[in-house]
Amino acid sequence: MRVFLLALAMQFAGAAWAQSEAQQQQQRQAEQPGNNAPVWRDVKAGEKNFTTIKGRETEVLVQPPARFPGQNVTATAGEAWRKFRNGPVTFYGGLLVTVIAVVILGFYFWKGPVKLHDRPSGRLIRRFSTLEQVVHWSAAISFCVLGISGLIMLFGKYLLLPVIGYTLFAWLTALGKNLHNFIAPLFIVSVIAMIFMWLRDNLPKSYDWMWFGKAWAFFARGEHIPSGRFNAGEKAWFWGGVILLSVIVSWSGIILLFPNFDQTRAVMQDAWIWHASAALLYIAISFGHIYMGTIGVEGAYGNMRTGYTDETWAKEHHDLWYKEVKSASRAPAAGAVPAGAPHMKEKT
Ligand code: HEM
Repeated sequence: MRVFLLALAMQFAGAAWAQSEAQQQQQRQAEQPGNNAPVWRDVKAGEKNFTTIKGRETEVLVQPPARFPGQNVTATAGEAWRKFRNGPVTFYGGLLVTVIAVVILGFYFWKGPVKLHDRPSGRLIRRFSTLEQVVHWSAAISFCVLGISGLIMLFGKYLLLPVIGYTLFAWLTALGKNLHNFIAPLFIVSVIAMIFMWLRDNLPKSYDWMWFGKAWAFFARGEHIPSGRFNAGEKAWFWGGVILLSVIVSWSGIILLFPNFDQTRAVMQDAWIWHASAALLYIAISFGHIYMGTIGVEGAYGNMRTGYTDETWAKEHHDLWYKEVKSASRAPAAGAVPAGAPHMKEKT
C-alpha cells in the first residue's frame, strides 16, 4: 500500500513538473520567440537520448563539456577542441615550421653547403639499389604531397584565402583533402618497406656517439666523422622520423580516415591532436633531411637520383662503409661509369 502511494505521489510530481516545464516553454515562446536555450542546455549536458541509429555515442547529440590543455573556460568538447586546434596547435606548429626553415636557410647563407675536400675520382660505386630508390622516392613524393596539402588545410585560411579568394581556395582545399586521403596509404606502404629495407644499416654503433659530439664540425667545416653506410644524423632521422613519427601520423591518420570503426568523438579529437602535432614536427625535421639531401651536402642528391656515388664522396662521408664495400668487392669495376650517373663538379 505504502509503495503504491509513493508511486502515485511521484507520478503527480512528475506530471506537475512536466506541466510547469511546458508552461515555462510556452511563456518563453511568447516573450522570447526562437530562444530555446533550455533545450540546448539539456543537449549540451551530454545526456543520452533516443535514436534508432546504432553505434557508440549516436544517442548523444552534442558532447558534454571538456577542457583542453591551456584552456580556462569549459566549453563543449567539440568547441574546446576547435579552439585548441585553431589556437596552440596552429600557432606553435606554424612557429616551429617557420623557425626551422629560417634557421636552415640562414645557416646555408652563412656557412654554405658541405663540400668535398678532394676532387671527385670519376670512379663510381653503387650506393642505392633501384628498389631502394623507388621506395625512397615514393615515400619522399607522398610525404611532400601530404605535407603541403596538410599545411594548406591548417594554415590556408590565414595565408592563402586573403590572397587567392574563396573560389580558388575552396577548390584547392578540396583537392588537397582528397589528395591527402588517397596518397596517405602510399606513404604508409613506402615507409613500412623503408623500415624493413634500411633497419640493419641504421642499427646504432659505438662510433655513432662521436658523430653527435662533432656534428657542428661536420656542418660548419665539412669535417669527416667516421660513419658506416648511414651516419648518426641519418640514423636519428630514421629512428625518430621514419619510424617514430611515421607510426604516430599513420596510426592517428587511419583513425581519422576511417571514422566508421565506431570510434567516439573524443578519440577522433585526440587522434587529430596527435596527427597534426606529430606531422608538424615531422615536416620541420624533414626540412633538415631535405636540405642535406639537396643543397646542403654536395653530391648527396645525385646518390639517390642515380643510385651511384663517387668514391671520393663515399670516402669523405662514409669511410667505414666505403672500406666495407671495397673489401667485399661489391662495387662495380673501378672506372665503370653508368650512363646518366652523377658527375660531381670538380672543385674550382
Ligand atoms: C624531397 C624530399 C627528399 C629528398 C630530396 C631526399 C633526399 C635524400 C637523399 C639524397 C638521400 C641519400 C643520402 C645519402 O646518400 O646518404 C636520402 C636518404 C634517405 N631518405 Fe630522403 N629525401 C627526401 C624525403 C624523404 C622522406 C620524406 C623520408 C622518410 C619518410 C626520407 C627518408 C630517407 C632515409 C631513411 C634515407 C636513408 C638515410 C637515412 O637513414 O637518413 N627521405 N634522402
